[in-house]
Amino acid sequence: ELLQTLVQKDVELQQLLPTLQQTNWAGRRLVKYDGFWYQLPFFPPILSVQKYFRAKNRDIILASFPKSGTTWLKALTFSIVNRNDLNISLLTSNNPHELVPFLEFDLYLHQENPDLQHLSCPKIFSTHIPFKSLPESIRESKCKVIYICRNPLDQFISHLHFFLENTKKNDSVPLLELDEYFDMYCQGIHPFGPICDHMLGYWNAHLENLNKVLFLKYEDLKQDTAFYIKKIAEFLEYPFSVEEEKQGVIEEISRLCSFENLKNLEVNKTGHIGVVKKSSFFRKGEVGDWTNYITPAMAERFKKMMESKFEGSGLMF
Ligand code: A3P
Repeated sequence: ELLQTLVQKDVELQQLLPTLQQTNWAGRRLVKYDGFWYQLPFFPPILSVQKYFRAKNRDIILASFPKSGTTWLKALTFSIVNRNDLNISLLTSNNPHELVPFLEFDLYLHQENPDLQHLSCPKIFSTHIPFKSLPESIRESKCKVIYICRNPLDQFISHLHFFLENTKKNDSVPLLELDEYFDMYCQGIHPFGPICDHMLGYWNAHLENLNKVLFLKYEDLKQDTAFYIKKIAEFLEYPFSVEEEKQGVIEEISRLCSFENLKNLEVNKTGHIGVVKKSSFFRKGEVGDWTNYITPAMAERFKKMMESKFEGSGLMF
């Protein structure tokens, strides 16, 4: 039966693929589906998520554009939700990605319709899928969605480092110059790109239903982590009691999930998650690193494009 499903899925995919625009990105094949670019190996799991994932009212979905603070948001949310439970100590012995699985990279990568019953409640899932392409049940159930994004120029630099760090030296990947990657980035050609459309999708969903979608910026979290920990907790309906605040629980979560603390944990220094080095999730953790790589002219080009995309939306960077 499984083989039959796989074959059928393969047939569907083989019929769909030739109808989609495709391009090369650093030696990887990207396909464009419903306005967004996906790396080919992750495209079938995304279709499976759309088709089979059924969100429950108590589920929590952490959405992001890659390299925008996903790891941090996973650590924070896991800690907030499990703070009265021994589970919180798991954060010191597991990478945050092992505690909060990605729908498309973990759960649906090898199985078309995995059984998710065994996951502990409330279930926290993460995804990079754009809002408009999320399975309907996420939009229609009462589950909560938290989105995190980041200055796109910092995202771009972070992603490039992450990509190079995880590309084997002997891979036959034709590495491009920074300005070639940047040119594609401006055209929206990037895994899960165009980034501005990705952000705008979640931004509009947030405006439409403030209780359903919380919209966060990495830079804001850096500036006042305690404030946003409180905000996330309230949004998820796990508010801190006055007693907890007095005891410094918020500050403790902030410290536990800080870049310095996570980066220096033994569990995050070595080993891999799939083909990705765990250490590569913790690089610099700073705001504005793009200025070390991107020229003012390149930044201006991006800014103009972004401003015209965001015009009238109220979203700004
Ligand atoms: P840099 O490459 O700029 O350092 P993601 O988690 O979405 O993959 O994003 C990775 C980026 O978030 C990296 O940015 C990484 O260093 C940073 N990061 C990871 N953990 C963090 C934390 N606890 N606090 C702040 N930034 C963090």
